Amino acid sequence: MKAPPNPAPLIQIATAYWGSAALIAAVRLGVFTALAEGRHTADDLAARLKSDPAATDALATALTAMGLLSKADGGYSNTPLADAWLVEGRPGFLGPALQYNGDNYPLWGDLDAVVREGRAHAAPDAYLGDDSARTRNFVYGMHHRALGVGRAVAGLIDLSGRSRLADVGGGPGTYSALLTERFPGLKAEVLDLPGVVQFSQQIVGSMGAAERVSCTGFDYYRDDLPGTYDCALISGVLHREQPDGVRQILAKTVAALEPGGVLYISDVMLDDDRAGPVFGAMFALNMRVMAHDGRCHSVAEQSAWLAELGCETVGSNRLPPPINYTVIRAEKRA
Ligand SMILES: C[S@@+](CC[C@H](N)C(=O)[O-])C[C@H]1O[C@@H](n2cnc3c(N)ncnc32)[C@H](O)[C@@H]1O
Repeated sequence: MKAPPNPAPLIQIATAYWGSAALIAAVRLGVFTALAEGRHTADDLAARLKSDPAATDALATALTAMGLLSKADGGYSNTPLADAWLVEGRPGFLGPALQYNGDNYPLWGDLDAVVREGRAHAAPDAYLGDDSARTRNFVYGMHHRALGVGRAVAGLIDLSGRSRLADVGGGPGTYSALLTERFPGLKAEVLDLPGVVQFSQQIVGSMGAAERVSCTGFDYYRDDLPGTYDCALISGVLHREQPDGVRQILAKTVAALEPGGVLYISDVMLDDDRAGPVFGAMFALNMRVMAHDGRCHSVAEQSAWLAELGCETVGSNRLPPPINYTVIRAEKRA
């Protein structure tokens, strides 16, 4: 009789959350920041963190085994990975982005109920304007992501010779500010919910782009785009929507594009067979947890929807981790 497959992958998958919980707890406690200036024993570290020494030692041991700390002469220090990204106050600090995953932790614990009911247990509107503090964190989080790992997305967008960009669901406006800086003569309009654009205006101002980028309250369920444009960007928006919602947003955007206009879509996307990659599939599941209609789409699906609207997809590029975004370029027939 053939031996059954080794169950080790099942144990690995079922316990994978231990590692993420250890990382998020360490960021919340400030472990990596406390070790920024050098090595400390578990007792010293616990004194700095005001935590329990034996439990701190257990956490530090786990972080060492995970490659985030190293241990020598009974003391712990940051590895280069932790030193570059996990120390508060450093330019690459990823703490808020990692803590956002921590905030979503309890929601993932309800995944079976979310799947049974088909509704997110999160309150998506809380961070889209209803709760000002959470909205501010969300908008500034997107800003830091776009300025950091997301900068590569802007590098794939060519708007040479274009003059008026619609940044649909433009959030913080960071991409509009970066693109109008790179392409002289380009002006942009960030279109997003009113509770969000109040923060976009601040961010665009802080980037010195207020003359080039305007921010307009806009709800893509309710409103048509307020102007006409020769280029448009829809970045990180369509993963909130099922195919009908995507087609509606695309139709409104394409209707506001001049003939010959160019549309970029950037997002986490699935392969055309919708069987992977792993990050895209897990991100799509995360969007079911976070938003009622979350879904990731493939390049083939979006190209077909665009073709129905008179647009031709002329190229797509997938960026590697940690960005994981694919950028599609399409053109509206002249
Ligand atoms: C993940 S963020 C992406 C922001 C930005 N485009 C970027 O790539 O950094 C998704 C954006 O969609 C916006 N959004 C969600 N629902 C919307 C709606 N009904 N109308 C307009 N914008 C909406 C959110 O406010 C948020 O700014």
